[in-house]
Amino acid sequence: MCGIFAYTGKKESLPILLDGLTSLEYRGYDSAGIYMAETGSVKSVGAVENLKLKIKGDEKGKSGIAHLRWATHGEPTEINAHPHHDAKEHIWVVHNGIIENFKELKEFLTKRGRVFLSSTDTEVLAHLISYYLDEKKNFEQAVIAALNDVKGTYGIAVSYKNEPEKIIAARQGAPVVVGIGDGENFIASDPSPILRYTKDVIFLQDGEVIVITPSSHLIYKLDSSQIKRDKETIEWEVEQARKSGYEHFMLKEIMEGPEVIENTIRGRLIVEEGLAKLGGLEMVAEKLRSMKRIIIVGCGTAYYAGLVGEYMIEEYAGIPVEVEVGSEFRYRKPLIDEHTILLAVSQSGETADTLEAIREAKRKGVLTLGIVNTVGSTIARETDAGIYNHAGPEMGVASTKAFVSQLAALSLLTLFLGRQRQMSLSTGKRIAEEIKLLPEKIKQITDKKEEIQKVAQKYSEARDFLYIGRKYNFPIAYEGALKLKEVSYIHAEGYGAGEMKHGPLAMIDEHFPTLAIVPSDSVYEKNVSNIQEIKARKGKVVSVVTEGNKELDDLSDDTIKIPKTLEMLSPILTIVPLQLFAYYFATTKGLNVDRPRNLAKSVTVE
Ligand code: M6R
Repeated sequence: MCGIFAYTGKKESLPILLDGLTSLEYRGYDSAGIYMAETGSVKSVGAVENLKLKIKGDEKGKSGIAHLRWATHGEPTEINAHPHHDAKEHIWVVHNGIIENFKELKEFLTKRGRVFLSSTDTEVLAHLISYYLDEKKNFEQAVIAALNDVKGTYGIAVSYKNEPEKIIAARQGAPVVVGIGDGENFIASDPSPILRYTKDVIFLQDGEVIVITPSSHLIYKLDSSQIKRDKETIEWEVEQARKSGYEHFMLKEIMEGPEVIENTIRGRLIVEEGLAKLGGLEMVAEKLRSMKRIIIVGCGTAYYAGLVGEYMIEEYAGIPVEVEVGSEFRYRKPLIDEHTILLAVSQSGETADTLEAIREAKRKGVLTLGIVNTVGSTIARETDAGIYNHAGPEMGVASTKAFVSQLAALSLLTLFLGRQRQMSLSTGKRIAEEIKLLPEKIKQITDKKEEIQKVAQKYSEARDFLYIGRKYNFPIAYEGALKLKEVSYIHAEGYGAGEMKHGPLAMIDEHFPTLAIVPSDSVYEKNVSNIQEIKARKGKVVSVVTEGNKELDDLSDDTIKIPKTLEMLSPILTIVPLQLFAYYFATTKGLNVDRPRNLAKSVTVE
């Protein structure tokens, strides 16, 4: 997600702000900006280097705020880059997160004569704070009043032209760290830009507001009561801080699963009506109602997400779905008519094969949709409509958090399409309720990471691994195997469990282990039979099972337990232990899981 940084102290702030942004660059971003009360703002699209080129050299001031933007609302343009300001250019805000009720707030403010310049959700914050200043509140009171009106997530830093020494920051669902220095204080999205100045920090909690000056810091709650919090000393190195203390981005991103699902579904579920509200599909909703066939395209992990989507949409929305890898779609003669739509799934939004499939479909007059993580990416721009994942930038080459968010987005789409058709209110409600519970259930799995680490270490000498699953978890067998292949470089194969006796069973012996995905679902008994066949050939089996299952404790060599959920949502849980398994398997071998050999994060060539 976006990165915020702020400084107030005795030094010239410009080099400190630029250094801060450079330290946050690893988070991924598409535009950058700074504001210093004495000389105003500078913004640019692209790298921090572009921002530096726009600096004239006469920018001055002992405090300032800075931002790296990773677009969520509005394209990555200079006008949408932060900091955003009110009409008088007195209040300046940098923000990481999403203001869910920004449309209502914008309407309220527009009616009161405020004019908006950008298409961001953040700009409402600047106008709202300014509105409360006009209502005779002081700076602190105005910020707190505005935050009480806001729904959504934020990590913000606010600067007020008339009180340049003071910076106000606040947190709700997006991290804010406060660096406590000697005659200087800092705000940042993570400790990495602060550590070179001070190791003393305060991690702000949700619902807290902090007011910093060079020599003070005061913490408030949203009811304006003041609270005390001791600073803590962190001994992390900068690199560790970027990974929130984890050793690798891959582990950090797997552990972010609960938060990622929260972000993907936020504001998109109306549980009591069993509905999914997908703003990005509103303008094509009528076309989708009459659509009769979906072709999903994607590559690698995104393709496997599409395969899960096929099961979901066919079962619950009753629409025939085909899934195709991007690199094949354009080389055959797809049979398309006016009732067919193409849905592209892509984390980066830049994958050449997927993009070319979209272009080919558009040439044939097909409506194209995207499930894309990167706002403003080529696929996001070239598709007719779509759903953003809001998973935040993914740094590890092996896709983990993007996959769970793609599955969550597909479950929302299934609900959306299903309720346009035959899906009953009660089925819709059940799905919506279960989707809401997913973050907590993922957390129950990630909390057991040490257990999964032990299992992975036990098998880390294996040269081959077979992954099996059925129905919704058939694609998860593919995705689990892909994770192991790409980070550990060993041979891993995903197979439909029912296909075992049509060939792969020949490979099984005591040196060829199997990872079986066997939640308690409609195909459970069939899977158990396949595991028995493997055991009869002396194959070792690690089973991913639903909590409470005792049968497979006896039958398998190792079991990993996951919470119960709806069958259609089970892949969102079963994949998490497989991601952790691949991570620990590879790190036990000392491999660089974040940068596997021969691979690139974004594949922009065919
Ligand atoms: O950015 P995309 O989702 O379009 O990328 C597609 C694949 O290149 C990607 O999922 C790749 O397979 C990952 N390395 C898998 O972990």
